[in-house]
Amino acid sequence: MNPIITARSLVKKYDGLSAVDHIDFTIHEGEVFGFLGPNGAGKTTIMKMIYCYVPPTAGQLLVNGLNVVKSPRGVKAILGVVPQEDSLDPDLTVYGNLITYSRYHEVPGAEARERANRLLEMMSLTEKRNVIIENLSGGMKRRLLIARGLINNPIILILDEPTTGLDPQARHLVWSKLKELKNSGITIILTTHYMEEADRLCDRLVMMNNGKILDKGSPVDLVRRHIGKEVLEVDYVDDALVGEIRTALGDKFTIDHYGDRVYVFTDSAHETASRLQHLNLKAVSERKASLEDVFLMLTGRTLVD
Ligand SMILES: Nc1ncnc2c1ncn2[C@@H]1O[C@H](COP(=O)(O)OP(=O)(O)OP(=O)(O)O)[C@@H](O)[C@H]1O
Ligand SMILES: [Mg+2]
Repeated sequence: MNPIITARSLVKKYDGLSAVDHIDFTIHEGEVFGFLGPNGAGKTTIMKMIYCYVPPTAGQLLVNGLNVVKSPRGVKAILGVVPQEDSLDPDLTVYGNLITYSRYHEVPGAEARERANRLLEMMSLTEKRNVIIENLSGGMKRRLLIARGLINNPIILILDEPTTGLDPQARHLVWSKLKELKNSGITIILTTHYMEEADRLCDRLVMMNNGKILDKGSPVDLVRRHIGKEVLEVDYVDDALVGEIRTALGDKFTIDHYGDRVYVFTDSAHETASRLQHLNLKAVSERKASLEDVFLMLTGRTLVD
């Protein structure tokens, strides 16, 4: 696999604050690569450095072999960007937004019209072609932002929280569109707060907090390395209860407590639960280990604040 983006000891400081703090990562051509982390972790700042909106304070960032500081025009030409905030022009129609954006990228008129029509079809927005932005639903706006990001035929698409605020149906529609795009060979970089989204879409991802990368890998690999197969969850009552669980299970198990739940990481939640029956635990649930467990373990907090 060919590397298409490489960051080496990348730093971004805002005044005294290190929003991105000496991070290294490599993204390969054709993969879907995710950045996960709580609010303020530095995800958007990394996206902005990749699409040359803010310059790195230190370190190196190469996009398709081009240095973002020395060759911003060359970098921008091969990127499609779907920002975290809705940045559509509210006075224009759906089609008008695409055509206006194509002019920033100097796409010739006939080519732009053909691409706009094709992208509206792809994002299931053809019916809304002549509607002005304020009359679109949130999900339609997100789909239009993705269409707009593709108007310059990019080889890399950057999506900063592509499905935040969408209902489950709209989210599934965006996921299926992103899968189609991946199959066409484009490299996709996304940030998300949704574990299911990262699990379904990302080939590899990094988990970050406070500007630092905590770990990286495929979703399956991260879950297997940090958590194992299954999780037993019970209501937290007090530390004494956590102590009793520990005593009953011995020190081979990892037992954690966040908020109002206690988590036991195990190969068989069912078998572990049966060993704790004498404790009369409340609200016991047995489930598969997930990326969210990995994040809780690494950061000690939930992904969505
Ligand atoms: N223009 C700016 N000036 C000063 N500080 C900034 C600026 N932009 C971001 N920051 C700070 O940098 C840190 C990282 O912010 P960033 O937007 O990259 O986080 P994020 O991971 O995208 O968070 P979220 O999940 O909330 O979108 C935060 O502490 C934020 O307050
Ligand atoms: Mg952000």
